[in-house]
Amino acid sequence: MTARPFIPAPLGGAASSDPFTYRDGVLHAEEISLHEIANRFGTPCYVYSRAGLEARWTDFDRAFAEHEHLICFAVKANGNLAVLDVLARLGSGFDIVSGGELARVQAAGGRTDRVIFSGCGKSREELRLALEAGIRCFNVESSGELERLAETAAALGVRAPVSLRVNPDIDARTHPYIATGLKENKFGIPIEEARALAARGRALGSVEVVGIGAHIGSQQTSTGPFRDSVQRMLALADRLRADGVPLRFLNAGGGMGVRYRDETAPEATEFAAAVGDRVAARGLELLVEPGRALVAGAGVLLTRVEYRKRNGARDFAICDAAMNDLLRPALYDAWHDVIGVEERAPSESVVDVVGPVCESGDFLARQRPLAVDAGDLLAVGNAGAYGFVMSSNYNARPRAAEVMVDGGRAHLVRPRERIGDLFSSESRLP
Ligand code: LLP
Repeated sequence: MTARPFIPAPLGGAASSDPFTYRDGVLHAEEISLHEIANRFGTPCYVYSRAGLEARWTDFDRAFAEHEHLICFAVKANGNLAVLDVLARLGSGFDIVSGGELARVQAAGGRTDRVIFSGCGKSREELRLALEAGIRCFNVESSGELERLAETAAALGVRAPVSLRVNPDIDARTHPYIATGLKENKFGIPIEEARALAARGRALGSVEVVGIGAHIGSQQTSTGPFRDSVQRMLALADRLRADGVPLRFLNAGGGMGVRYRDETAPEATEFAAAVGDRVAARGLELLVEPGRALVAGAGVLLTRVEYRKRNGARDFAICDAAMNDLLRPALYDAWHDVIGVEERAPSESVVDVVGPVCESGDFLARQRPLAVDAGDLLAVGNAGAYGFVMSSNYNARPRAAEVMVDGGRAHLVRPRERIGDLFSSESRLP
């Protein structure tokens, strides 16, 4: 058995908790071969590992264990009910950004008193639903939102717990599309306006400011910006407390990066060490909102090669998975490892791994030394985060199946869409 066939997203714990390994030359998810999964459920198919999810979440929880803390999984990274269920059973909190994500957490059995609500555009309806559900706090991102929340809470006769999401103006040093902590980004309240907003909250009565937070960007590969952001928030926390604001927690955000290729990916313990003591010294509970780091390495996208083809100088493996299934390569030029389900020596020539969608941006991987024939199965690594959730029906392609492996069992946790599903709610003109 070869451990860690993929460029590893650190999965924490013992190597035995690595969920995807070759056994007798065939890639397995825990104890089940990906051949078997493809035969039973078809391709393309997302395959998740329960053990992988548990190992990674536990890794995070232990990293922060010295201090009072709550890990709030960012549901946007993977909202499948089975994934949320596994995390809810471990006692996870959840960071949501919509009424839809709230409903998912509820349907998966997650505790709503451990739900925090992020996002800069919460609708009245979403605020009402979350107030009725009794969530842990609203991460408020503007004065307009504070007023709207106060009105909605007053109408329901309740008091809304608020955490002010500030924009600390810190460069997370990541892809510009996923940086969120700079003044030029739409997110958060300018940090210098937070005190005035807290004062306004006090005047409103139906809201109570009990926390502050920031999220500066995703796929952070060093702990420096994370630490700096918390440092700025701690200075603000001192001022808010001097103003009489009863702060109970600080939300350091998510954004912990993973290793897709050759990036450094700090361990959870390094993120914890960068901020834990200083937050605890203020008597504040520490909240974090990791998405990617918890789930990326616990999922692969399984796809079958339909054709091999050569166009001039370029060699292609045309697969049944495409940009509509995994958008990250097309959208961010993201690099995902791709390996054969049958273990093979690398090829001397390179190939582009592409899908059937009619766009030249439709690729999963380019210029890879893969020995691959038509009919072969490939696995795209680190696909557990921002994979299925960003998929679409572009080109009228039904969305992929999702399977969760748990030891020696594979559960179909979302069936492949059928073509009829695609337009069953549409209609022709009368
Ligand atoms: N909290 C907030 C307020 C966020 O906006 C995000 C991600 C997270 C937490 C979780 O960040 P994570 O720990 O997963 O990095 N689609 C992109 C990533 C977008 C992230 C948006 N916000 C991708 O595929 O790389």
